This record gives sequence, structure tokens and C-alpha cells, in this order.
Amino acid sequence: MALYMVTGGAGFIGSHMVEELVRRGESVRILDNLSTGREANLAAVKGKIDFRHADIRDLASIRPLFAGVDYVIHLAALASVARSMEDPVETTLVNLNGTLHVFLAAREANVKRVVMAATAAAYGDDPALPRVETQTPQPLSPYALTKLAGEYYGQIFYRSFGQEIVALRFFNIFGPRQDPQSPYTGVLSKFIVTYLRGTTPTIFGDGEQSRDFTYVANVVDATLRACLAPAAPGKVINVGTGKSSTLNQTITLLNTIFGLQVKPQYGPPRMGDVRHSTADISLARATLGYEPLVSFEEGLRRTVDSLRTALAEA
Ligand code: NAD
Ligand code: UD1
Repeated sequence: MALYMVTGGAGFIGSHMVEELVRRGESVRILDNLSTGREANLAAVKGKIDFRHADIRDLASIRPLFAGVDYVIHLAALASVARSMEDPVETTLVNLNGTLHVFLAAREANVKRVVMAATAAAYGDDPALPRVETQTPQPLSPYALTKLAGEYYGQIFYRSFGQEIVALRFFNIFGPRQDPQSPYTGVLSKFIVTYLRGTTPTIFGDGEQSRDFTYVANVVDATLRACLAPAAPGKVINVGTGKSSTLNQTITLLNTIFGLQVKPQYGPPRMGDVRHSTADISLARATLGYEPLVSFEEGLRRTVDSLRTALAEA
């Protein structure tokens, strides 16, 4: 049994990661300041985890929490492109300074490996699709830039200090517990809530932008593989499904799932947006033995069911 530290463990992806680690019998310590995460996300593992309310912007206060940790899964961040356009300073303090603090604390505590959540947003609008890790990054938002800079810090720590760090470029992750209330949440959560409430979804732009929508169980699997895979340290690896859908296609699919004929409204395109995004997952297959477990459609059905229950209970 190993001790895993999950930063951002009370968030959407983090809470799924923690549940799976607990299911596998591992020990879990969570570091989270509950800024976008919620303790309610951890209801299923209450009493089985070591929760520490702490802020990655404060190096001195997080240092002692890394004692005895074997693996760090670093997810704590402000995860929204739109939010980073509105407040680039806050996004930089959390995502870049905070990530450096996590790497420093991990190194001082002799942590075996850190796996960090990087992002597909780093590719920007390079016309070449699917996205391959060897493409030159073109960040279009402060969010993408902070995450890319975190990757580079990871490579410096690996090359210079031998600290094992893996950066996983998550594509668009969705699933249960992706905060349905936040204006900064993922588009599918926002759309599903409009279906459940009988309101109209808004598409920013013409709806022909595409994303590699990836169900959360897939990214949990890839991340836990990355903690142990011998060839992973020092690498930047895409985690997606290898397929993408436009926003207009997601509305068509939701209409089928709900048996409705909803017509979205269209608003101005969002600043900092990427146009198209599809992952090449060859490296994840080769390095991690990763294969997507849950398809987009199956994941969407599970997310609809979960949000329906959550809204009925609220
Ligand atoms: P989330 O907002 O649900 O989770 C982020 C967690 O980090 C929250 O629990 C929050 O309280 C915590 N946090 C924020 N600032 C903190 C701070 N200063 N100190 C300590 N904790 C702090 O978002 P998510 O979608 O679960 O994203 C998790 C990670 O995955 C992020 O790093 C994000 O950038 C990355 N990512 C997400 C996606 C996606 O599609 N959701 C895609 C690519 C990368
Ligand atoms: C998402 C993640 C980001 C991650 C990136 C990786 C969230 C909140 N953001 O960013 O953390 O690094 O994927 O690819 O999970 N849109 C609408 N209507 C809405 C909301 C959004 O049309 O009501 C559009 C946006 O303009 C965008 C697309 O939907 O074109 C996706 O937006 P969003 O879900 O915010 O994700 P990304 O910006 O792709």
C-alpha cells in the first residue's frame, strides 16, 4: 500500500481519482483549499481519507503535508480558460506558482513521482489534427500558458534534479460532479443542466468548434497508470479518446438522449477559445498501456443520469 497525495482532490476529476485509489486499497491524502472543489464530492470516501485544507500558493504551509508521500497527483488549479481571460493574475498564482511549490515540496520530501494535469489547450490553433505531443505549443489563453509553463518546470525538475515528473495533457474531461452551478464549468455540464431545467443552451460561436470529450473514468485510469509506468517520467502525454465532436453534434446527441428537439441559441465566440481539438493517443497507448474504457455516448448517458439525480436532491 502506497500513500498518494491528490492536490485538488475535492474537485471534479480529483474526487473520482480519490474514489478509485480508495477502491484499490491505497492510502490517500488530499490537499485542497475548496475554492472550486467541495467536501460533498468526497461523501463516498468519508472516513477513509486524510483531508488537509491547504493552499498551494503558500509553500511554507504545504511543505509538511508531503512527509511520507510516495506519489503526488497534482490536479489543484483554476481550470477555466474563460476565468483566466478575466483574471490572469489569479490563474497564474495558482496554476504556475502553485505548481512550482508542489514540485519543490515533493522533491524535498523525496516523493517517488509527481503526475501533473496539463492540458490540450496548450496546442492552441495549430491546424494539424490530431494533436501529437511533438507539435509546437501555441497557447491562446493565460490558462494554457500557465499549464504549459508547469510542464516545462516539470522537465527542469526531471533533468536537473532527477525528480520524476509526468505531464498528462488532458483533453476535455466530463462526467458526474463536474460542478453544474459554476459559470466556469465544462460545456457538457452546462448543456445538460439546461435540458434538465427546460432552459435553452447557449453556444458561443457557430457550434462547429470540436472537442475530444473524454469521460472521467478514462483519465483516472491513465493517471494511475502514469504513476507507475517505467517509461513515463520526463514525458508529456496526451490523454483523450482520439475522436472529437462539434458542439452542434453534442446538442443532436443530447436531443436523442432526452427525446427532445431543443434548438440552442448562439452567442458571440468566447475569447481565448481553441477551434478544434482531437488527441493522438499513440504515446499514451505505448507508454502507459492506456486504452479509453468508456465511450463519449456512454459517458454522456452516465453524466445525464448523475446530474438528474443531483438536481432532484438539491
Ligand atoms: P476542479 O475545479 O473541479 O478541481 C480543481 C480543484 O483544485 C478544486 O477542488 C479546487 O478547490 C482545488 N484548488 C484550486 N485552487 C487551489 C489552491 N490554490 N490550493 C489548493 N487547492 C486548490 O477542476 P477539474 O476539472 O477537476 O480539473 C482538475 C485538473 O485537471 C486541473 O489542473 C485542470 O486544469 C486539469 N484539466 C481539466 C480538464 C477538464 O476538462 N476538466 C482538462 C484538462 C486539464
Ligand atoms: C476545457 C477545460 C480545461 C481543459 C481543456 C482541455 C473546463 C471548464 N475547461 O477547456 O480545464 O484544460 O478543456 O482541452 O473543464 N461553450 C459554449 N457554451 C457554454 C460553455 C462553453 O458554447 O455555455 C464552448 C466554449 O466556448 C468552447 C467549448 O464550449 O468552445 C468548450 O468549452 P469548455 O467546456 O469551457 O472547455 P475548454 O475551454 O475547451
